[in-house]
Amino acid sequence: MKVVIIGGGPAGRAAALELSKLDQDITLIEKKHMGGTCLNEGCMMVCGLVDVARFLNDAENFQKREIVNINPEFEYKNVANGVKETLSKLRHVSEKEILEAEVNLIYGEAILNDGFVKVNAHEIHYDKLIISTGTRPFYPPITGAEMSLTYSDILDLEELPEKLIIVGSGVIAAEFAGIFSSLGSKVHVLCRTGFLNVLDSEVSDFVAKNLLEKVNIHKNVDVVEITEKGAITSEGTFEGTVLMATGTIPNSELVEGLVKKGRHGEILVNKKMQTSHENIYAAGDVVGGIGSTPIARMEGIVAARNALGISAQANYEYVPHSISLDYDVAFLGPGNSKNTHENKNSNDQQVENKVTGKIPGTAGPGSFWKVLSRKTGFTQMEVDLDSGSLEKLYSITPSARHNMAYISMLMRLGHKTYDFENFIEAHPSTDSIYKLMRFFGKY
Ligand SMILES: Cc1cc2nc3c(=O)[nH]c(=O)nc-3n(C[C@H](O)[C@H](O)[C@H](O)COP(=O)(O)OP(=O)(O)OC[C@H]3O[C@@H](n4cnc5c(N)ncnc54)[C@H](O)[C@@H]3O)c2cc1C
Ligand SMILES: NC(=O)c1ccc[n+]([C@@H]2O[C@H](COP(=O)([O-])OP(=O)(O)OC[C@H]3O[C@@H](n4cnc5c(N)ncnc54)[C@H](OP(=O)(O)O)[C@@H]3O)[C@@H](O)[C@H]2O)c1
Repeated sequence: MKVVIIGGGPAGRAAALELSKLDQDITLIEKKHMGGTCLNEGCMMVCGLVDVARFLNDAENFQKREIVNINPEFEYKNVANGVKETLSKLRHVSEKEILEAEVNLIYGEAILNDGFVKVNAHEIHYDKLIISTGTRPFYPPITGAEMSLTYSDILDLEELPEKLIIVGSGVIAAEFAGIFSSLGSKVHVLCRTGFLNVLDSEVSDFVAKNLLEKVNIHKNVDVVEITEKGAITSEGTFEGTVLMATGTIPNSELVEGLVKKGRHGEILVNKKMQTSHENIYAAGDVVGGIGSTPIARMEGIVAARNALGISAQANYEYVPHSISLDYDVAFLGPGNSKNTHENKNSNDQQVENKVTGKIPGTAGPGSFWKVLSRKTGFTQMEVDLDSGSLEKLYSITPSARHNMAYISMLMRLGHKTYDFENFIEAHPSTDSIYKLMRFFGKY
């Protein structure tokens, strides 16, 4: 079967690698860089910058405690160039992986027709098509908004902004606020409502006070205009470099008239990632929903299997999330755990017996030197004692990102709190999740 995939980000790459295992005729078309947003201007870029930010924060802490005499100096340009050099190496590795899987890789912008794709003036016919074209930054209808920077411009800054004004209050706003305040910029975050609304308010308050203490967060602010000097708002003018972090929009213009789209331009798909056209599938950020690399990869694999007639469905239960600040702020997505519980107990009339438990993070690698300043984070969970189901989980510790992924897997396999009774930890660690699970497991 001839399958064409448009977009070489996590969704398209995962689809291509899955199909290659099944010995198909695969063409992957990418208009810019292999690896997509995740590798080139998203997850990996943030990872490189956060590592430097955390090093500076640690240096400041050691200096304050007179443990190590260290006063780091740096040029932003060198940081950005170092990140770029590493990204280029990773791109090369990703490309090699695709070529070794015998995928026909074409660089160029794909234009879509029913039954064939046009790229670099060639027509490529397909039996099945997978669209994984991702998203791009969204500029809200604010006068002058296009003058602002977005995440795509971060590595091209000539120098560290003295003052950074971030419009938006989601994950990107939080991560860049953390990075640039640690690098030394004076950062203001302008939220149109609350800050990090994806978290429960007591968790986002903790994050603001403890992990973004150098950042000025302004809630309920209307941004009226962006000028060369900064942002004019309902709370006055904020001077500085403006970074727009107001979400993303799908790169779905290419399917116009061919498949159905939703209100925000996302391509509509069923659980098999099939669009309204029987031969066309879509996966990753372009279909909307949770914007994360593992979800894009899962959807790419599901699309690939279904395109070949192998039945598979996307499963969004207990999806792990993580925000990269001085510690990782990790959580199991609100709503996902609820769905699991409701699905599993749809005929069950018993009254829920929900309790919440919270403990501070423990001393361990990455948190030991924060004990004296009481900054070891915390873990909090909501449990249904009747069923032993985990309903909600937050963990803010150095190891939270990794722990959350394994907890997610266990929950997806149907495990309960009481399964943790015999848990043996590797000590020392900063995982407090197992402690709470073991505690609730006795009930
Ligand atoms: C700043 C930032 C930080 C992030 N951090 C994380 C994180 O820590 N963890 C996490 O899980 N997720 C993170 N994400 C989200 C993650 O990057 C995305 O969810 C993921 O990249 C989506 O993968 P995708 O394959 O759907 O789309 P993309 O990665 O966007 O890839 C789409 C590809 O399609 C190509 N394309 C578009 N149109 C065409 C065309 N017409 N022809 C050919 N090619 C085309 C594009 O050039 C692009 O390479 C972050 C995102 C951002 C912006
Ligand atoms: N660690 C990770 O996994 C990670 C990291 C970075 C990015 N990502 C993904 O990348 C995507 C983009 O991230 P994002 O932070 O830009 O998007 P987001 O999480 O959707 O947040 C968008 C923010 O913009 C605000 N906003 C929207 N329109 C606005 C307007 N007109 N004026 C002022 N504010 C406005 C929203 O405010 P309200 O809250 O008031 O609606 C919200 O705070 C998401 O899918 C995200 O999941 C993931």
